[in-house]
Amino acid sequence: MGFNYKAIFVDLDGTLLNSQKVISQRNLKCLNEFIDNGIPVVIATGRTLKSVKKVTQGLKIDTPIITLNGNDIRKSIDGYSMMLSYVDNQLKEAIFAMCKNILNGNSDYYIQNILFDTANGFYCLHPNLLDSNEFSTHYDSDVKELDIDNPPAESIVSFLFLLTPDSNREAFLTEQTKFFKPLGAKFCTFNGWPWIELGSPKVNKGTAMQYVCDYLGINMKDVIAFGDGENDVEMLAEAGLGVAMANADLHALKIAKAKALSNDEDGVSVFLEHLKQAGNIQ
Ligand code: G6P
Repeated sequence: MGFNYKAIFVDLDGTLLNSQKVISQRNLKCLNEFIDNGIPVVIATGRTLKSVKKVTQGLKIDTPIITLNGNDIRKSIDGYSMMLSYVDNQLKEAIFAMCKNILNGNSDYYIQNILFDTANGFYCLHPNLLDSNEFSTHYDSDVKELDIDNPPAESIVSFLFLLTPDSNREAFLTEQTKFFKPLGAKFCTFNGWPWIELGSPKVNKGTAMQYVCDYLGINMKDVIAFGDGENDVEMLAEAGLGVAMANADLHALKIAKAKALSNDEDGVSVFLEHLKQAGNIQ
């Protein structure tokens, strides 16, 4: 095979999944052929393992899976957590304080839902306002109601914020970024998904890729990675070849070294097939 990379890291939403949230037959066939030829395909997603399982049926992956934006790295689709990261107490307390402040009406925006992800389940503020279909495929357990004055004692992996449609999203991001930057934490937005995430500042898909590469005994320079969003930036930057989809947001497009067709045009497989045929010359 005229293909010089030793592993393929691939994001799901907006990248390997099309707008219908499925992996096309062409993408499946292409990636399974790479797996059959000994090239690991590593899924790297913000999703939970349960929802990864649902959408990756048909893909013959038996290598580690990066879930929850790098916070939970599974040994395989049915394997244990090789690495699980939680938000530290200082950041946790700062987030609780921010939530209380906003919910008391002391800002130009209002949070409709807050979601605390514990890796096994999730707590939600105002669960009655949540589109229940959106998260029911993510966890085995039902949503637990969040009382911000009495937050859960469990360790938390990440926080998700959904503002009301008339809330000033930019003001939220600017003001809160100023506040959280000294703590090392950074907000992350999603391509085509209205939630804003705040997680452990030390963990992202790039750090997870390093971990998985060490485990597989390969160098990150020998990796080709595909992504479309802000949560893919570190992975695209660290990979030997970071590829952004045509539908990617500006964060991903800026950092990637190459561009593929969109997720609705089988961008991943078209790009990989092209590399194979051209012996890596684009
Ligand atoms: C989630 C959501 C998705 C979102 C995603 C990012 O948990 O439910 O709708 O787009 O995270 O996933 P990605 O595969 O793009 O990292």
